[in-house]
Amino acid sequence: MEGGGKGVTLQLMMAVGTAVIGSLQFGYNTGVINAPQKIIEGFLNDTWNNRYSEPIPDTSLTTLWSISVAIFSVGGIFGSFSVGLFVNRLGRRNSMLIANVLAFIAAGFMGFSKLAASWEMLIIGRFIVGLYSGLSTGFVPIYVGEIAPTSLRGALGTLHQLGIVTGILMAQVFGMESIMGNSTMWPFLLGFTFIPAVLQCILLPFCPESPRFLLINRNEELKAREVLEKLRGTEEVGADMQEMKEEARQMMREKKVTILELFRSPLYRQPIFIAIMLQLSQQLSGINAVFYYSTRIFEKAGVSQPVYATIGAGVVNTAFTVVSLFIVERAGRRSLHLTGLLGMAFSAVLMTVAMALLDQLPWMSYVSIVAIFSFVAFFEIGPGPIPWFIVAELFSQGPRPSAFAVAGFSNWSANFIVGMTFQYVEQLCGPYVFIIFTVLLLGFFIFTYFMVPETKGRSFDEIAAGFRHDAGQAGEKYTHDEMNSLGGADSQL
Ligand code: GLC
Repeated sequence: MEGGGKGVTLQLMMAVGTAVIGSLQFGYNTGVINAPQKIIEGFLNDTWNNRYSEPIPDTSLTTLWSISVAIFSVGGIFGSFSVGLFVNRLGRRNSMLIANVLAFIAAGFMGFSKLAASWEMLIIGRFIVGLYSGLSTGFVPIYVGEIAPTSLRGALGTLHQLGIVTGILMAQVFGMESIMGNSTMWPFLLGFTFIPAVLQCILLPFCPESPRFLLINRNEELKAREVLEKLRGTEEVGADMQEMKEEARQMMREKKVTILELFRSPLYRQPIFIAIMLQLSQQLSGINAVFYYSTRIFEKAGVSQPVYATIGAGVVNTAFTVVSLFIVERAGRRSLHLTGLLGMAFSAVLMTVAMALLDQLPWMSYVSIVAIFSFVAFFEIGPGPIPWFIVAELFSQGPRPSAFAVAGFSNWSANFIVGMTFQYVEQLCGPYVFIIFTVLLLGFFIFTYFMVPETKGRSFDEIAAGFRHDAGQAGEKYTHDEMNSLGGADSQL
């Protein structure tokens, strides 16, 4: 059954808009170290010089820089893995509120690192803002997925990604030399994270708690109905309430599902495997090689104004996320993800050709710009937004927090690997580095083609029933509880 009201109400948009400030923070801190790499490397060099009275050796510089970049994703790994500790105890909204403490602390560490002549502070700040971002990559899609009507879940879910890409673009623009990407202003560039945190703290108290959380986890039916009426802008929320109650009945049997149970139970094994693979397809596509290092990539590709090309990539990135936003409810998740992966693979080949031929044909630098822009555009058609919100769709209320922990952990670990190793691998492979991503992209295309179901327009309960059906057909053995929950909802068996 479709959820009741389909309308986009002010309350709903306000709640989603406030939540995705968390996504914006994640994006901002993803993109912020790209343009000012040389400037901040200058700071590392000066600080090294002051401490050891010699210029920093090249290898130490690469290492210190790679750590400053990639420690963010280490924070993300820990943050995303802890999502389950918060969302059920504090609720979805208050979890988002409390996480801002981390954003404030991180802004302080990064913003004052220059004054204190301490790259350690820079690295610690990046780690803490990574923690915040890791939490956000769970909190935001869970909250948005739970307050959205079924017919808008994909579109609103894509707003998480739109928040991320807007953050990246802001960071790229602010990172221009004439704005904050210079040797005096860069601490403000990094400390800027403070401002969205203040904004979110002011707005969140006006946003409602997730009605699913109120009803299913807290059993507060009246409150849930009240919130739902406001979000939907109508008193006719019977269908939504009914669907949530059905899920609540399932939950009574499922209880809370731990991370281990996700892997042990035949009910969850298939969706968790899909969730992990989709996260890996997002990160191992190589997207963050672009968003962490594009200025350098463009430089190597012979582009004369690499910072502008980087901003161009940010603009394309944002534009195509908007495209995806409008087509995701029509085209469906699966076909968009497939199109995106294939398009990225082609772009990566084009990029490789352009890089390889650059010495003979200088105009190849333009081809490499086109290649990177189309790489990014195809990413945002599917592999960017879809993996984030599809996790909320693949799982019902019981296993959802644990599923997000596992999915987030996979995403951020892969993010870390790419961020940390890209520069080294590039030194080894030269212009052929994107071939590695091409091979991975094709692998993920095949996986998606054979394994990923369409979730568009189906309620959480219907999607879960589909997996129960598959597991049932595979002739798996169930535990007593699982048998109960199978009998509960699904007539297909
Ligand atoms: C996705 C990824 C993130 C990446 C961004 C680029 O949100 O999770 O790591 O930087 O897209 O737009």
